[in-house]
Amino acid sequence: MNTLWRTHFRGREPLVLGVLVSGSGTNLQAIIDEIDRGSLNAKIAVVVSNIASAKALDRARTAGIPTVVLDHKAFADRAAFDTKLVETLLAHHVTCVVFAGFMRIVTSVVLRAFPNRVVNIHPSLLPAFPGVNAQAQAVAYGARLSGCTVHFVDEGTDTGPIIAQRGVPVYDDDDEASLRERILRKEHALLPTVLQWIADGRIEIDTSGDGTRARVRLKPYS
Ligand code: GAR
Repeated sequence: MNTLWRTHFRGREPLVLGVLVSGSGTNLQAIIDEIDRGSLNAKIAVVVSNIASAKALDRARTAGIPTVVLDHKAFADRAAFDTKLVETLLAHHVTCVVFAGFMRIVTSVVLRAFPNRVVNIHPSLLPAFPGVNAQAQAVAYGARLSGCTVHFVDEGTDTGPIIAQRGVPVYDDDDEASLRERILRKEHALLPTVLQWIADGRIEIDTSGDGTRARVRLKPYS
């Protein structure tokens, strides 16, 4: 068992989050709101966006959170971008990295710097519909159930160990936009919940299986 997360306990050390965004930032807002309500024991040390015009940056500024823009087009390759990203996160003493609508694949540069400490939210029930436009993929496929997944990030595209999922129905008259909205409501509840599990030290990564796939276990409150 990887017991990395057990170093955090409720009421003691808040998680120090680095939240990565590319878009409107409603998941970032959900995290901010739960911290404000006192139901998430965390602080957001920095919000990093690869898109300068992302609305998420306005949300962060309104909440008084430091922001950094790293335009991926200004870097020679992914590794160069990721090196700067890691430098930025470490400079803000981040202990847990959250991809909240961050539309970039990261390399081992990030994963080595934050082993088992990078979490992504994806708008489908993985392993169905990975990658971009997951909601449109679900509608086009005719799926009757979709939802969202929070998982640890690995080097694949939406392939890392699954932490938690929530389902929503897909209705006959759904389009991408209506399904997106229904899934987002679940995302906004699930992501802060998972972060609190991490803050509580309740998440263990079990690598003791047949070696093909690590699995996440949620420990009961102790
Ligand atoms: C969310 O639906 C999130 O799951 C998705 O982008 C949206 C961001 O919304 N992420 C991905 O598709 C990652 N592959 P937000 O900016 O309003 O939080």
